[in-house]
Amino acid sequence: MNKNISPQIKTNNLSIIFSKNKPNQFTLLSKLNLNFFSNKIYFIVGNSGVGKTTLINHFNGLLKSNDGDIFVEDIAILGKNRKIKNVKKLRKIISIVFQFPEYQLFKSTVEEDIMFGPLNFGLKKNEAKKLAKFYLNMVGLDDNFLQACPFNLSGGQKRRVAIAGILAIEPKIIVFDEPTAGLDPKGEMKIIEIIEKLKADGKTIIVISHTMDLALKVADEILMIDKKTVTFSGKPYALFTNNQILTTTNIVKPKIIQIIDCLVQHDKSFASLYSLQPKTIEQLAKGINDVLIKKE
Ligand SMILES: Nc1ncnc2c1ncn2[C@@H]1O[C@H](COP(=O)(O)OP(=O)(O)O)[C@@H](O)[C@H]1O
Ligand SMILES: [Mg+2]
Repeated sequence: MNKNISPQIKTNNLSIIFSKNKPNQFTLLSKLNLNFFSNKIYFIVGNSGVGKTTLINHFNGLLKSNDGDIFVEDIAILGKNRKIKNVKKLRKIISIVFQFPEYQLFKSTVEEDIMFGPLNFGLKKNEAKKLAKFYLNMVGLDDNFLQACPFNLSGGQKRRVAIAGILAIEPKIIVFDEPTAGLDPKGEMKIIEIIEKLKADGKTIIVISHTMDLALKVADEILMIDKKTVTFSGKPYALFTNNQILTTTNIVKPKIIQIIDCLVQHDKSFASLYSLQPKTIEQLAKGINDVLIKKE
């Protein structure tokens, strides 16, 4: 798979070790060899504290490991080098929407807040203004919000403004660290729409999430971190139907898979739903209906 295409992000034997060579040395992640290809949606899942956030902070140079190398497009982050060359270029390629990014809003208008990133990367004021309008609209907020004070918006709106601020930098790879945490179902749906739109626009997206329903719906690939390493990497259905690998984690299967599991317990003929691989309630309902019709 993807043999002729080189990965957009690659890690070579990347380990993340704290307090190295001290009595309290602690290996968080060990010898990771990961590949992320362009224009896909990746989900990184795993229990709290396994190192998901720490890992992605290495991808844009916010943290640096001496053990192993990372390659992001043509930029090499080498373990043997103390410093990363071209950090600014790296941050233009890959940007992170941190957890609760709305806490980082600080300007007096939404427009100024979104313009901050582009201005920082050297764009002219009028260009940054255009980007602010464009990305505000993209996250589903109209022009009236440009002059609003960010602090007067709802939680979900604030988060979308913060996301627009990252998108306005126009990175090729966007990392979302728990983007739906604390949002109501409607707010969650808006974020899903943004992620799907970004993929359609050719971006590469990495999402850290505990919401497996979301992972099943939108992920092309899932990476599961457990026991200091990536214990699974592949398609959502391959993970969620692998009971063996799920037992050591706190991961709760997506509701759609739970329903299929229940149906199969009662009647084996529903097992065909595993190969149908429904991702939405509508697809599941149609699949169940088709099985019932066949039985008649
Ligand atoms: N600078 C540090 N020194 C020592 N341990 C750290 C440091 N930074 C993170 N850790 C450890 O890494 C663990 C994983 O953190 P994190 O990446 O936030 O996990 P996750 O995002 O998967 O919940 C933390 O519980 C902590 O023990
Ligand atoms: Mg985290």
